Amino acid sequence: MQRTQIKDSVEKIGHQITVMGWVNTRRDHGKIVFVDLRDRSGILQIVFVPGSKAYEKISPIRPEWVISVTGKIKARPEKLVNDKMVTGTVEMEAEDIEILNEAKTSPFEIDKNTLGVDEELRLKYRYLDLRSERMAKNIILRHNIVRFMREYLYAKNFLEIETPFLTKSTPEGAREYIVPSRLYPGEFYVLPQSPQQFKQLLMVAGMEKYFQVVRCFRDEDQRGDRQPEFTQLDLEMSFVTQDDIYNLIEPMMIDLVEKLIPDAEFTAKPFPKITYAEAIEKYKTDKPDLRKNKSDKKEFAFCWIVDAPLFKYSKTDKKLVSSHHPFTMPQPDDVELLDSEPEKVRAYAYDLVLNGFEVAGGSIRIHKRDIQDKIFKLLGLSEEETTRRFGHMLEAFEYGAPPHGGIASGIDRLVAVLAGEDAIREVMAFPKTGDAKDLMMGAPSQVSEHQLKDVHITLRKEAEGKELKTDDTIVGD
Ligand code: AMO
Repeated sequence: MQRTQIKDSVEKIGHQITVMGWVNTRRDHGKIVFVDLRDRSGILQIVFVPGSKAYEKISPIRPEWVISVTGKIKARPEKLVNDKMVTGTVEMEAEDIEILNEAKTSPFEIDKNTLGVDEELRLKYRYLDLRSERMAKNIILRHNIVRFMREYLYAKNFLEIETPFLTKSTPEGAREYIVPSRLYPGEFYVLPQSPQQFKQLLMVAGMEKYFQVVRCFRDEDQRGDRQPEFTQLDLEMSFVTQDDIYNLIEPMMIDLVEKLIPDAEFTAKPFPKITYAEAIEKYKTDKPDLRKNKSDKKEFAFCWIVDAPLFKYSKTDKKLVSSHHPFTMPQPDDVELLDSEPEKVRAYAYDLVLNGFEVAGGSIRIHKRDIQDKIFKLLGLSEEETTRRFGHMLEAFEYGAPPHGGIASGIDRLVAVLAGEDAIREVMAFPKTGDAKDLMMGAPSQVSEHQLKDVHITLRKEAEGKELKTDDTIVGD
């Protein structure tokens, strides 16, 4: 018989249907057995009464077994209606059942909120954790958010374009993951910290409006809101000002929250714009949490932080570094300060903050070679190093680069805040631990001698491991 999704069972009163899924719970009440069966769409109560073919086969069945049950859908008597279940108005009386697969006892209870379970165990058995109602809900919310963003941008004439993962360094302030080249001994690809340079080159290529839902890789210390690989909604537009970016992103965020988060309330609409200097003075942070009630998970306080400084001095060696990245445009009023007081130069840069988390950041870019050259010089790059690392960008600026700007939103962070979760791991299907391990797959792991030889790598003794730096850092974190 054709399978019916559990959520659709409410429409089938009086009909015989077949449902398939996992045993969420089993309760034996005297001779009657109740099974709550779960599929992606919800949970259905199934009653097994003595005398049916189904009843004869029920005895071995345990939680998480995969079964197919055929039976009749009945309306529940009024006083047994359960408002908390999608299918709370009905139940099934089982007629026959087929065991599709047995299951070992799961290492933790899936029918409860798994937040209290040891996280290493949850990550090792992530495929079980994702079966729990809260986690499945988060993954589905994430899907709906990404889908909303895509559709919003398609409707505004954006092109979705992929950019390479095997590439060269793009400075965004973190260490990079490197991939050895087999064909070129001693040479390496770098996994992108963001598609920053590619999206700017797509503007030079005349694409005008680009976006991508893209994985970014950053080898940095982990925190609740940071992962070594994470996803950005990355976009770029030609012939725009900062206002065009605000007018694109703000309505998208408002619409998205209103459509996808029930009972959401905004602290302020339109989103307040606060200068970086004001934020630091008033809130002592560039990520203020402006909610009226800080413990309200349905209150959303967005704000733009604007006019951030183009540079800052690095904590370690007091060197001038970019606050965002070196492709950010200085504000024209401040350009004359570049030589005398560079730390006072404001950038055409903006961050979007939500409840104290930076959920997006971007800028208007430099599109002229002379300004870009000057910025690299101020960052202390020699001519040789500039050419080696960024010669392709500078060259492209000489072939008719349009004025352009863009932004990238951290999807994991945005979804986590909207879902009311404290860590972005709770909204990622397969996240890494705080020490960057994938406990389910067992990564990172050693590779064979043969594989190492193929890529011309001899392992150094860890003791010799002085920090090798090929390039100077030019972006602050
Ligand atoms: P930025 O470095 O600010 O900008 O990144 C944009 C957004 O990505 C999210 N984010 C992260 N999320 C999870 N884990 C991480 N390790 C992590 N790092 C960043 C944040 C952040 O706001 N190329 C520029 C964008 C641009 O200028 O258009 C960039 O990547 O939410």
